[in-house]
Amino acid sequence: MKLKKQVALVTGGSRSIGRAIALGFAREGANVAVNYVSHTEEAHSTVREIESLGGQALAVRADISKREEVEAMVIEVWDKLGPIDILVNNAGVQKRVFFLDLEEADWDWMLGVNLKGYYLVGQAVTTRMKARSSGTIINISSEAAGFPSQRMTAYCISKAGVAMLTKCMALELAQYGIRVNALAPGLTRTDINRKDLEDEDFLKMRLARIPLGRVMNPENLVGAAIFLASSDSEMATGITLHVDGGRSIT
Ligand SMILES: NC(=O)c1ccc[n+]([C@@H]2O[C@H](COP(=O)([O-])OP(=O)(O)OC[C@H]3O[C@@H](n4cnc5c(N)ncnc54)[C@H](OP(=O)(O)O)[C@@H]3O)[C@@H](O)[C@H]2O)c1
Repeated sequence: MKLKKQVALVTGGSRSIGRAIALGFAREGANVAVNYVSHTEEAHSTVREIESLGGQALAVRADISKREEVEAMVIEVWDKLGPIDILVNNAGVQKRVFFLDLEEADWDWMLGVNLKGYYLVGQAVTTRMKARSSGTIINISSEAAGFPSQRMTAYCISKAGVAMLTKCMALELAQYGIRVNALAPGLTRTDINRKDLEDEDFLKMRLARIPLGRVMNPENLVGAAIFLASSDSEMATGITLHVDGGRSIT
């Protein structure tokens, strides 16, 4: 087991990619805090599944774009599961809208969760990791960090920001033994894009840019997340690992 007795916090662990990573970590022996904001039953279901694998788990509600809720979440995880060894900044939101129709509220929402949220949770966790001189952060980025996409201005900017946030955090936190890397998924079938993927023209257009020619599922990301979380990647920091069917080379 690569993560035996380690404590991980996975934001947005209730569903989809976060859920798959939380379960993958549990199978490697980690105890996992599953953050969510609105899907309480899904979060508790993930927790039950982790417990059935023999691990400890905790569902913890917090809107990651709100500092007070983030602080309370990190304190609760530390109190109930112990010091956090691994943080996966995964929670994310997306709304497709043309630039000319992009409303300030949607800009604030996407940047607030996808970028500010990563900074808030990242800072709350690494402030405490610093005292222990170790820790690993995985920021879930996206192929959208490097490619502009129709009706995705705010989302693309948030993910480009995550790429730079990862490098800046890695640079400053290395002195405390904290590694910070990004994992950039390609098109993955989840709740965030379920409706888009029902549109055959959209799917065809997206598949044409994926050399391996298929949409991923959340489980396709688990091995890479375990690699970045574990000592297998002990000398890697500030990198982005692309797991995207080859999208980033097209
Ligand atoms: N799917 C893809 O094709 C794809 C590709 C590249 C990158 N990504 C990135 O991968 C990550 C996960 O995406 P996904 O596809 O798994 O999305 P998803 O199916 O929509 O799940 C989103 C998760 O984020 C949580 N969340 C949303 N807003 C939150 C907030 N304010 N505070 C705390 N948690 C919040 C949700 O919690 P609730 O369950 O409580 O609502 C849920 O657990 C995101 O960062 C996304 O940008 C996805």
